[in-house]
Amino acid sequence: MCGIVAIVGRAPVAPLIVDALKRLEYRGYDSAGVATLDDGVLARRRAPGRLVNLEKRLQAEPLGGNIGIGHTRWATHGVPNETNAHPHFSGGVAVVHNGIIENFSDLRDELARDGYSFSSQTDTEVVAHLVSRELAKGADPVEAAHNAIRRLEGAFALAILFEGDDDLIVGARNGPPLAIGHGEGEMFLGSDAIALAPFTDSITYLEDGDWAVVRRNEMSIFDIDGNPVERRRQQSLGTSYMVDKGNHRHFMEKEIHEQPEVISHTLAHYLDFTNGTCRQLDLPFDFAAINRLAISACGTAYLAGLIGKYWFERHARLPVDIDIASEFRYREMPLSKDDAALFISQSGETADTLASLRYCRKAGMKIGAVVNVRESTIARESDVTLPTLAGPEIGVASTKAFTCQLSVLAALSVRAARARGAISAEQEKALVRQLSEAPRLATQVLKLDTEIEKLARELGKYKHVLYLGRDTNFPLAMEGALKLKEISYIHAEGYAAGELKHGPIALIDEKMPVIVIAPHDRIFEKTVSNMQEVAARGGKIILITDREGAARSTVDTLATIVLPDVPDIISPIIYALPIQMLAYYTAVFMGTDVDQPRNLAKSVTVE
Ligand code: F6R
Repeated sequence: MCGIVAIVGRAPVAPLIVDALKRLEYRGYDSAGVATLDDGVLARRRAPGRLVNLEKRLQAEPLGGNIGIGHTRWATHGVPNETNAHPHFSGGVAVVHNGIIENFSDLRDELARDGYSFSSQTDTEVVAHLVSRELAKGADPVEAAHNAIRRLEGAFALAILFEGDDDLIVGARNGPPLAIGHGEGEMFLGSDAIALAPFTDSITYLEDGDWAVVRRNEMSIFDIDGNPVERRRQQSLGTSYMVDKGNHRHFMEKEIHEQPEVISHTLAHYLDFTNGTCRQLDLPFDFAAINRLAISACGTAYLAGLIGKYWFERHARLPVDIDIASEFRYREMPLSKDDAALFISQSGETADTLASLRYCRKAGMKIGAVVNVRESTIARESDVTLPTLAGPEIGVASTKAFTCQLSVLAALSVRAARARGAISAEQEKALVRQLSEAPRLATQVLKLDTEIEKLARELGKYKHVLYLGRDTNFPLAMEGALKLKEISYIHAEGYAAGELKHGPIALIDEKMPVIVIAPHDRIFEKTVSNMQEVAARGGKIILITDREGAARSTVDTLATIVLPDVPDIISPIIYALPIQMLAYYTAVFMGTDVDQPRNLAKSVTVE
């Protein structure tokens, strides 16, 4: 949610800030803005909508100055117009902010009583006024920023620029991430290392409660009481990644097509294909000793966890509690320090997932994190990081991170099964061999793109779509519905096929396509019965199955997508692909902004 960049540089910074914001646009794209000290005077350009609008604005009215801050916004308080766009000014102070100031309403009243007037509806403007009021009372800029930051409650990453000091930016972090980039005679602040990748790979991450004084040739970090603190300077992995679309129309399309490769990298990290074994992992808990695994995540990552539950329980006989993180953190369930907790997050910054992790930490549990961004807060705060090797995922709708999360969970479930004596060495070998087939089978499925694109043109004509599946295909049905609704804006729901007659069947008529995910497995016939129920009520069935399933299906379908036969354990990984492709092509057909769908952001760092 929202991206922040700040540069204390040696050359005009506005174009550099815009360049960095492009790399952060996945965090929000409701509006964008830049402020610099142009000839020593605070000046800004802001524009509603995508970054391209700000670029046009800057072309028409360029900004000079070697120091500046920039922002790309995901609106929390106030509609996404120019007035609410950051940076916000007060006196000689400019502020960009990511997060939510929870006590903003009290602060706003207090500042209004002191005569400050508000030009925006944002919570951020109170920060600018607070700093400005401190300056008016005689504090120097650093003191003023510190005094203001102490008053803030909630989640925030901030960068503050001061008229009259061309060598100072103050940054602060409490919740959303903020990284300092070290250059040669220049310094940077950014919401993540990828934003700063063109400038530097030497990064210091602020921790919660930290604030920093950043100048061209030095920086200092303090805790909330103003005591200096040491934070490690590290080499970021961000620069090794190329973040571009290649020959693809959208990042999402590129990321869908990268899946055979990144699934292969991820599986190879956990599995030794030569020996048919799981690799040793330095886990802080012993799968054989725990009675329960608690998994918590949001959105697509949660659905990966739900599939993981089936695997851990089936292969390892390990009971799993799976929760949506925003529920988990407030559910007040009993936790045992003898059990382990697993958090799944592409970004590693999702506020609810992080809060759940901290909740488990307090309960003394051992913590593992399945994350894609290895330097993220969730990764840093866990006892063990279990990386997905998906590379940067830029499309807001998660695709390759999801299948890599599934790959990690599948491999871990086999590891847990072996550790708990639930499977023999031979069975381990067989499962590892089956998993090794995932990249090859994924490549085959991607070749169905023309067929799926054609089908998407049909799907795009409907207003509502139902997805059904059983077993691991039930979470996948929910994932299919989530993917379709978030990028095509077609209303979609995913249900366990067995639940159909407990309510959703009332929705079925000829205007309701029903996408059924049903490989031929031990419960295939049960799903066929559900399809009969749909067909009897005029519902249009799109069946995603395998050769055997297609041969045995006795139901008339609008279309049948036939995948190769796949081993059970990799079925959700492989079946995720046609689900993603169908959503993707439908959205392209509908003409929506596939990579940056409305109202969404890639990294949800607020509750
Ligand atoms: C949907 C999607 C979201 C994320 C969710 C969690 O396509 O991408 O539902 O899965 O916001 O994000 P992470 O994995 O970064 O914690």
